Amino acid sequence: MTSIDQLPLRPELRGRTPYGAPQLQVAHRLNTNENPHPLPAELLADLGAALGHAALQLNRYPDRDAVALRADLAAYLSRGGERVAPAQVWAANGSNEVLQQLLQAFGGAGRTALGFTPSYSMHPIISAGTGTAWVDGHRREDFTIDAAAAAAQVREVRPDVVFVTSPNNPTGTAVALETIAELYEATDGVVVVDEAYAEFARTGTPSALRLLPGRPRLVVSRTMSKAFGMAGLRLGYLAADPAVVDAVQLVRLPYHLSSLTQAAARAALAHTDALLATVDAVKEQRDRIVAALPALGLTSVPSDANFVLFGRFADAPAAWKALLEHDVLVRDVGIPGWLRVTAGTPAETDAFLTALGEVAADHRLGD
Ligand SMILES: Cc1ncc(COP(=O)(O)O)c(C=O)c1O
Repeated sequence: MTSIDQLPLRPELRGRTPYGAPQLQVAHRLNTNENPHPLPAELLADLGAALGHAALQLNRYPDRDAVALRADLAAYLSRGGERVAPAQVWAANGSNEVLQQLLQAFGGAGRTALGFTPSYSMHPIISAGTGTAWVDGHRREDFTIDAAAAAAQVREVRPDVVFVTSPNNPTGTAVALETIAELYEATDGVVVVDEAYAEFARTGTPSALRLLPGRPRLVVSRTMSKAFGMAGLRLGYLAADPAVVDAVQLVRLPYHLSSLTQAAARAALAHTDALLATVDAVKEQRDRIVAALPALGLTSVPSDANFVLFGRFADAPAAWKALLEHDVLVRDVGIPGWLRVTAGTPAETDAFLTALGEVAADHRLGD
């Protein structure tokens, strides 16, 4: 059998492993930040009808520019109070593809991206895939970004693309708009604010959409995978100056977004209120997890997302394994002392807290 090492692979991809959380058969899978709530029944009915209608035209290529879907997404974003026009919106197969298109347009060979680690691990992976060099940006010990230090690092490195994940994955905390604005001033490159978890933010946490007017190099990326509970749909989108949309159109594959995806996403957006009704329920479980940790001798990082980074453990991989033995799968994100758990249903929180109650004393970091 031929091994990958025998192939004429690009040198920077040698020795790498594909991205992927373990997909184990476990009763409680709390490791990929999905929304556990099933889609509302009325949406399922409309979805069937919309897909059936779109299927009648499957002999034709889809709307290459997804004009109707982008108008619906713009209307959704504008609900938050910031006016977003359809020409400012672009959609693709998950926000991962949006990020890849951004790197194809603004990164690439001879160019550099910088993101503040620990953060979403796909940012460096998509950078590598597009031939973009990667630089780790610094955070404080408590995982927050020191705006002045971060801006100084950006001025020194001069990256072509700066990633800010807000709320950050895996730590959970949103980044202040002042910090994002300062980073924008520090670079001539593109600043991508990855807001995959924005809808879960604590009350009063503004979106970076507010910063878009007058900042043509700022991009806000969103997804229907998390709050909308439609990870299987693969629909991500961005909001930015229309010129950014023109730029990503230079690199997108023709007809990248199937007519079925566009139809399903539009049907879902027509049920936005019903879909987002689960957000408060998930936030409640998140806050329940956070509140239960101190009694177990554990703590967490402030979370604006549908997950909690919790610790500290003497040996996080050992604690991860102990939880798995209690049928609960969380994520070891490689930060010494910490693990990440997705907030889901009340029953999942019960199972998680019960399991954690069993293992915490043996695994928490001693005083
Ligand atoms: C911060 C962040 N951005 C983007 C994504 C990708 O989401 P999707 O491609 O499903 O839209 C994820 C997925 O977990 C994420 O955590």
